[in-house]
Amino acid sequence: MGTAGKAGVGLCKLVAIAAIAVVLVVGLAEAQPEAHFRCSVENGTCRAVTDYKHPNGTTLEDIKSLFNVKHLPDILGANNLPTNTSSSYRVGANEVVKVPFPCKCSNNTGLSNGVPLYRIKKGDTLFDIATTTFAGLVKYPQIQVANNITDANNITAGDTLWIPLPCSCDEVGGSSVVHYAHLVQTGSSVEGIAQQYGTTQQVLLSLNGIDDPKSLEAGQVLDVPLQGQYT
Ligand SMILES: *[C@@H]1O[C@H](CO)[C@@H](O)[C@H](O)[C@H]1NC(C)=O
Ligand SMILES: *[C@@H]1O[C@H](CO)[C@@H](O)[C@H](O)[C@H]1NC(C)=O
Ligand SMILES: *[C@@H]1O[C@H](CO)[C@@H](O)[C@H](O)[C@H]1NC(C)=O
Ligand SMILES: *[C@@H]1O[C@H](CO)[C@@H](O)[C@H](O)[C@H]1NC(C)=O
Ligand SMILES: *[C@@H]1O[C@H](CO)[C@@H](O)[C@H](O)[C@H]1NC(C)=O
Ligand SMILES: *[C@@H]1O[C@H](CO)[C@@H](O)[C@H](O)[C@H]1NC(C)=O
Repeated sequence: MGTAGKAGVGLCKLVAIAAIAVVLVVGLAEAQPEAHFRCSVENGTCRAVTDYKHPNGTTLEDIKSLFNVKHLPDILGANNLPTNTSSSYRVGANEVVKVPFPCKCSNNTGLSNGVPLYRIKKGDTLFDIATTTFAGLVKYPQIQVANNITDANNITAGDTLWIPLPCSCDEVGGSSVVHYAHLVQTGSSVEGIAQQYGTTQQVLLSLNGIDDPKSLEAGQVLDVPLQGQYT
């Protein structure tokens, strides 16, 4: 009986250590929470915008293709780039580019409507696709759920994934806006982001369900409503 008891404690310790190890790994890898933008008009659709950046730099053509954007001018317009900018235009490492995409509300959440579709390459992991290829705009469990993948470690090269980007079609303060999924940069504040995009700290806190503005973290995805000259 004594032995069984010790074995039991030993097993508990092992389980506890394993649990802590899992929490540590997940904690490091998934510092920011999953972004879910409120979107209340069931089946409502609209256009939305997201930030994008690539650690090694990329081209507008590759961004257009990655996000399945049909027309290059839509990307140029979102970034105030001249209309004669070439699709081979080089985007620097970690330089932020805005990408327009269609949004649909369902079950009180806004997600990109059927795009982007990403074809899995040999050696890809769901984690890399989420954090690097799509800049952390989604977390890998969101891709897993959206694509009904049973085992996140078992994906097949050549298969196509739908990447569910956060967005919304809701009015803000009684006005129609374009919801912009803003990737929070190191050193920025809720107040600073509000000023930059012509809104208020209060609106951003309320829209994003944030209680403490000091809790803002780099890499977090904020729902920023764009109006007038910003759309
Ligand atoms: C939303 O779309 C789904 C699928 O097309 C449909 O089954 C559902 O009835 C729609 N809901 C509303 C409120 O229109
Ligand atoms: C960035 O470049 C490095 C060095 O060439 C390479 O190992 C890495 O895979 C690249 N990252 C991405 C996301 O393409
Ligand atoms: C785009 O047009 C402007 C003026 O219309 C011109 O100065 C500039 O050189 C052009 N840029 C390219 C990349 O063709
Ligand atoms: C709708 O959202 C709720 C809460 O977020 C979730 O529990 C439920 O499974 C969702 N329903 C569908 C059909 O996705
Ligand atoms: C998800 O996968 C399970 C098991 O493979 C299957 O039973 C279910 O119908 C699938 N659901 C959807 C929405 O594809
Ligand atoms: C991976 O998934 C495929 C089908 O989706 C299945 O046939 C295969 O057995 C799975 N491999 C492992 C190691 O679970």
